[in-house]
Amino acid sequence: MSVITLKGIGSYAPPKILNNQDFEKIIDTSDEWIVTRSGIHFRHVALPDQATSDLAFEASKVALEQAQLDPKDLDLIIVGTSSPDMFFPSTACLLAEKLSAPNPMAFDVQAGCSGFLYALSTAEQFLRNGTYRNALVLGADTITRFTDYTDRSTCFLFGDGAGAFVLEKQEKGEEFILDFLNGTDPTGTGKLLMPAGGSKRPACTESIQAHEHFLKMNGKEIFKFAVRISEVLINELLKRNHLKSSDIAWYAFHQANIRIIEAASERLNITVDQTILTIDHFGNTSSATVPMSMHEYAKQGKLKKGDLVIMVVFGAGLTYSAALVRWPL
Ligand code: ACO
Repeated sequence: MSVITLKGIGSYAPPKILNNQDFEKIIDTSDEWIVTRSGIHFRHVALPDQATSDLAFEASKVALEQAQLDPKDLDLIIVGTSSPDMFFPSTACLLAEKLSAPNPMAFDVQAGCSGFLYALSTAEQFLRNGTYRNALVLGADTITRFTDYTDRSTCFLFGDGAGAFVLEKQEKGEEFILDFLNGTDPTGTGKLLMPAGGSKRPACTESIQAHEHFLKMNGKEIFKFAVRISEVLINELLKRNHLKSSDIAWYAFHQANIRIIEAASERLNITVDQTILTIDHFGNTSSATVPMSMHEYAKQGKLKKGDLVIMVVFGAGLTYSAALVRWPL
């Protein structure tokens, strides 16, 4: 029986930095309010000439290098993103062009901030059930392009970035992905959205004047949903894999707000020290938060071969996803 393993991981954060003092100049806020309410000190923001595929390209190069895989051998590229370069072609196709990958199946998965884990579970299915061998899976977002810098309740939250995993199907070895839980609560579609720009409300002068091409969020509702669903998903993954919370080396939460991570940790009886934390310097990079964080912890040697990790995310939809993995690198 074949297994799926992780061969390489990479990430990229653009060089431009927005700190909380920059926000004090454009909205009525303070560094102290932002840090207390979100845990964010600064975030990286794409340069004017960088789009999502450019961030994805940089992260992919690092992951492919570690995997020692030539892009020509990629069978599958999936990009989890809700800020594609354009409606079509997909960011995955634009990335394939940049990588000179000649003939992969390439497509985007749009699941808000859950995009990366949705993409990873999709790739797992193709590798397990199909003939594909090598897959490149990303969470990549340039969400600041859709951030309304006049809306003080959302604009300080977001940063840009990309994270990439290279997966390979092998004849033998240890499984990387042990279990997955995915879902959607469609009663929450109106709680986090970009109202215009699609077929329902094509761009027009009025939509631009009304700031409808920016992200709108009911922060309090998302907050409550995030805490509740993180607890439910983690408890279910532990239960059905006969694990105790202390068996997990790291909990990699979507980095949306440190208070969400603290509140969920308290309900789960785990300490914040058991959670991966990068929100202070990346902010919320949407679908990129988990792979970027995993790469950072792997580079720092905190994530060790054999560690059990639970990744858990939530986003527009309201989508949610959690994965139990055994770290193979
Ligand atoms: N600076 C200062 N004061 C502010 C700011 C600001 N930037 N923003 C809001 N306030 C004020 C409000 O006006 C309010 O004042 P009032 O009490 O006089 O009305 C007060 O601060 C409290 O506002 P709340 O909205 O209650 O603040 P809260 O503690 O809920 O924090 C936040 C807001 C940080 C947005 C929080 O709700 C949150 O993090 N929600 C989750 C966001 C999230 O997870 N998004 C993930 C999905 S993103 C994606 O999928 C692309």
